[in-house]
Amino acid sequence: MFDPRRVTLVVNGNPVDRMVDSRVHLADFLRRDLKLTGTHLGCEHGVCGACTILVDGASVRACLMLAVQADGRRIDTIESVAGDDGILHPIQEALSRRHGLQCGYCTPGVVMTLLELDRDRDGRSLSEPEIRAALSGNLCRCTGYQGIVDAALDLFGPKNIETSTQPTHGSST
Ligand code: FES
Ligand code: FES
Repeated sequence: MFDPRRVTLVVNGNPVDRMVDSRVHLADFLRRDLKLTGTHLGCEHGVCGACTILVDGASVRACLMLAVQADGRRIDTIESVAGDDGILHPIQEALSRRHGLQCGYCTPGVVMTLLELDRDRDGRSLSEPEIRAALSGNLCRCTGYQGIVDAALDLFGPKNIETSTQPTHGSST
């Protein structure tokens, strides 16, 4: 049974006012209604992290939140991260430089998690275990994680840390 509800929210800085079925989860609302397909769906039950977005600045699994629960909230998705001129965000640039992605399916969720981590660290340098812990909710089937961790260490780690210049597949978070 279709149960339409009105939602008003701000998505990537833009006001949104839509009717949505009360049972539609936020990831489907973003992807189908707003055509923001950068938020990916993997498991659809909160495990893989592919659907990670920011809600009022906090990372959220968009597959576990209903669109109606986003009423009145501020949503940021991967589409908001690069500049309007197409220039990559430093996190995206570091992931590219460090071979932190292959198929890229997990990458939007990883980027949103790292954005939150960067904000929460408040300028403090992070250790590799801290970075791995923060990324532990983002599953990646391709990279072995080392390239992702190296990218984060480039940005958030101690400045004199030695990091590999090539991906070292096979390690895990
Ligand atoms: S699709 Fe949401 S956590 Fe996997
Ligand atoms: S790059 Fe393919 S799942 Fe992470």
